[in-house]
Amino acid sequence: MARNGFFTGLDIGTSSIKILVAEFISGEMNVIGVSNVPSTGVKDGIIIDIEAASVAIKAAVEQAEEKAGMTIEKINVGLPANLLQIEPTQGMIPVPSESKEIKDEDVDSVVKSALTKSITPEREVISLVPEEFIVDGFQGIRDPRGMMGIRLEMRGLIYTGPSTILHNLRKTVERAGIKVENVIISPLAMAKSVLNEGEREFGATVIDMGGGQTTVASMKSQELQYTNIYTEGGDYITKDISKVLKTSMSIAEALKFNFGQADINEASETETVKVDVVGSDEPVEVTERYLSEIISARIRHILDRVKQDLERGRLLELPGGIVLIGGGAIIPGVVEVAQEIFATNVKLHVPNQVGIRNPMFANVISLVEYVGRMSEVDVLAQSAVSGEEFLRRKPVDFSGQESYIPNYNEARTAPANSNVQQSAPVDYGVHEHSEPKQKLGDRVRGIFGSMFD
Ligand SMILES: Nc1ncnc2c1ncn2[C@@H]1O[C@H](COP(=O)(O)OP(=O)(O)OP(=O)(O)O)[C@@H](O)[C@H]1O
Ligand SMILES: [Mg+2]
Repeated sequence: MARNGFFTGLDIGTSSIKILVAEFISGEMNVIGVSNVPSTGVKDGIIIDIEAASVAIKAAVEQAEEKAGMTIEKINVGLPANLLQIEPTQGMIPVPSESKEIKDEDVDSVVKSALTKSITPEREVISLVPEEFIVDGFQGIRDPRGMMGIRLEMRGLIYTGPSTILHNLRKTVERAGIKVENVIISPLAMAKSVLNEGEREFGATVIDMGGGQTTVASMKSQELQYTNIYTEGGDYITKDISKVLKTSMSIAEALKFNFGQADINEASETETVKVDVVGSDEPVEVTERYLSEIISARIRHILDRVKQDLERGRLLELPGGIVLIGGGAIIPGVVEVAQEIFATNVKLHVPNQVGIRNPMFANVISLVEYVGRMSEVDVLAQSAVSGEEFLRRKPVDFSGQESYIPNYNEARTAPANSNVQQSAPVDYGVHEHSEPKQKLGDRVRGIFGSMFD
């Protein structure tokens, strides 16, 4: 049940900031305006410089406003999967005796009662997604409003994230002069939007190959089963090309865009391109094959890591296979390489909306679709969470649960006011093997353990 009206999404990427303004009419999404500006102050998907990031967001807002011909006052911001945790929760309230018919306020109350389960002080509830309501013991109700009952229960999922990341996100957007309407769990929105009905039900995995990171989200039975992040993406390919060929980042990026091929079997051994290199007055001739070897090594390195974790979770068996999105997946040959690595069906998702037929925009489209397609009950649940600063942050002991202490030191020491290329660490050899900074899979697996058996 879609809502009618204008909705705006903001994807704060490591390479670029994207904003989409769309209008929903009877379930149809029409693109009104879109913007895409280079990102600053963001590293590995996380804001590391509030001022720099807010300047870039402001530029993206202005560009989107101009394209859409309207003022943007509030925006739905995507939160990357970094350190996301998912907890099942349930709430219960007696329906007030003066009216036995369940109303909006009762949904609000039962959601709030489910929030009292709560979290450790360094975490915050981002979202509560109701799965079912139970009225006087009758299960499986999607919207209990208007029903008669004495006791209202709700079962759902609570999504929490680190307070610091959420604080920085809100502060950055607000500094750009925009109100945060909702914080949207990016991998959830992505899986919902990119996968079709059958894939969401029987199971499939989305891999978003961004500039600074690669995000994985598997969905089955309409629910997010698994999510993981690898701090490696398309920008690492550019750095590899720059490093191996000893050429500037801008030339390396142009080589990737214009001559890049991820599948070395498809790259010519005779076609060459002249490249200006450091320490030589004469340009050096590079074969397409050699360029392809550099690109292929990084793509394979990323996808091999993804494969290991998907295999461990038995997620490669999902019948929907793999769907690729993100700018890093645009290089020709990525689908073929992924097919070989995962040994399952792989496709590239190209959005169908006019003006944004590019896998890079799949993420921001998914944010707008997510809010546009929220049911009235989802909206009530979300506003119960958003409106209750106290409940979101209520510090209750999570006894018996392992705690997770994030290490942001690396991100925090990156230079201020830097763009992606300048802030990049220097040593990114093609064969470098770095561990993923955040391991979310195990956490989510813990919660949905039975689904992996
Ligand atoms: N046509 C293209 N050919 C090759 N690479 C491309 C192309 N277009 C974009 N890219 C690459 O895609 C990457 C950016 O992708 P995207 O916009 O999805 O990332 P992001 O959302 O900004 O970053 P992240 O998701 O990592 O935070 C960059 O590395 C860029 O070089
Ligand atoms: Mg991205």
